[in-house]
Amino acid sequence: MRRRVLVVDDDRAILDVLAMRLEAMGFDVTATADPATALAAEAGRFDLALVDLRMDPVNGVELMEALHARQGRLPVLIMTAHGTIETAVEAVQRGAFDYLTKPFVPNELRAKIARALATRRWTRDRERLQALGQTLASTGVVARVLDAVAQAAVDATEAERAVVFQLEHGRLVPMASAGTPPPAWDALEAGAAAAMDKGVPVTRAGADGGTIVAAPLVVQRGPAGALVVETAARAVPDEDDLELLALFSSQAALAVRNTYELERLRSGALAALGRMATEVAHELKNPLAGLRLYARHLEQRLARRGEAEDLELAGKIAATVDHLGGVVAELGAFGRPPELQRAPVALAALLDECLDLAQARQPGAGIEVVRAYDAACPAARADARELRKALLNLLVNAREALVAGGRLTVATAWAPDTRTLTVRVEDDGVGMSEETLARAFDLFFTTKPEGTGLGMAIARSVVERHGGALAVQSRAGQGTRVVIRLPLDAGEGGA
Ligand SMILES: Nc1ncnc2c1ncn2[C@@H]1O[C@H](COP(=O)(O)OP(=O)(O)OP(=O)(O)O)[C@@H](O)[C@H]1O
Ligand SMILES: [Mg+2]
Repeated sequence: MRRRVLVVDDDRAILDVLAMRLEAMGFDVTATADPATALAAEAGRFDLALVDLRMDPVNGVELMEALHARQGRLPVLIMTAHGTIETAVEAVQRGAFDYLTKPFVPNELRAKIARALATRRWTRDRERLQALGQTLASTGVVARVLDAVAQAAVDATEAERAVVFQLEHGRLVPMASAGTPPPAWDALEAGAAAAMDKGVPVTRAGADGGTIVAAPLVVQRGPAGALVVETAARAVPDEDDLELLALFSSQAALAVRNTYELERLRSGALAALGRMATEVAHELKNPLAGLRLYARHLEQRLARRGEAEDLELAGKIAATVDHLGGVVAELGAFGRPPELQRAPVALAALLDECLDLAQARQPGAGIEVVRAYDAACPAARADARELRKALLNLLVNAREALVAGGRLTVATAWAPDTRTLTVRVEDDGVGMSEETLARAFDLFFTTKPEGTGLGMAIARSVVERHGGALAVQSRAGQGTRVVIRLPLDAGEGGA
């Protein structure tokens, strides 16, 4: 992209000559004799300013300071005639990048401008990279990271838009974008594919006469996606832009890798935690069974003696022990899931049953239940008992999120081409913060005073054992959508 240079000199003749020279050097030049015009331009408009030292009524150093007040890092070259070197040195001390002596020596002009621009670019990019680095460090959420990368790419290259594509199951999926929405995705996707193919940044014609530049995202062994920017018709990306884009895409790749690594570590730690939980559950099972027996025994005795008050107490002990027993059984089942007993299951009927159970467990108030069952759904080959457990947890969560009432939608769908059944459980309740969403599947993670933090982990484990996948989208204050995909002819994992 053409660099924009501001020239301010009250000597018309010098102004014209300088403007001509700079234009010949390929710059986009704004030349003016009026300091007010220079200050009226929007902040950030220029990449470089050349300012004459002696002007009336404002002197060049004052104008420079006014420019710096609006755009702190704008490099300013102060122009001065022979004999006023001291003042020029003072100008540098007050923030000028350098000074140029009149009459201009062509090579000096060129060299000082190049140096000023290179330094500016470097600081600017370093700031962006730092900002990017901070975002990457502060979040473990891939989507956030990719958003930051796309935004930084737009800012740094002044492109119309940037899109990050990731390779998912052999297809390029746009994961994040910034700038104006693309008129068409095809050209961007083709650019991404070409960059991944070549392994280096590539340039090609964009949809509206602009240019598409794509850089591959290389994670571990090979490209995992690409960062693609598209410029407006008039802007042509230069070498620097390409290099910068490559830099951003390597940052993005790093972030993606770190996040995957984090996920791997987390699931390793979770597996260990799960094993420990199972062992604890196992240890607790027998003493709890004993406690329960004693409590029942006590209840019977007190009942025989007609001691109503104590009987009530004993009843409470028994109920609490039963509750504990339930938690322990769930934990044990989580660590050592039973073999799946698959049989044809009608999803709609199972969902209806779970909706009733969930309502009994969490009555709530003002909850409108919407059922949208796809009549074309064939029976799933699934373990109804296990699936019931998963769905019930999701429905209870949804009802718990609808503390202030709202809508609970339960939908099913059948996709014959992929032979996939989909169940969607959606609520417009409290939703989850980013942190909660990231941890929702962690064992024992709960935000509820009475929660055990097992529901989501159990639901996902059941779905995955059926060869399916469970995905959650949520926004604080807006609601939550959980989507379960079950393959009809699942790999008979565990069956
Ligand atoms: N539909 C939802 N809306 C808002 N937050 C949810 C939703 N589903 C889950 N969560 C969040 O995820 C956390 C974990 O859910 P999970 O079902 O695993 O445990 P829990 O509901 O807290 O306890 P329990 O083990 O009793 O189900 C919840 O505490 C809640 O913060
Ligand atoms: Mg729950």
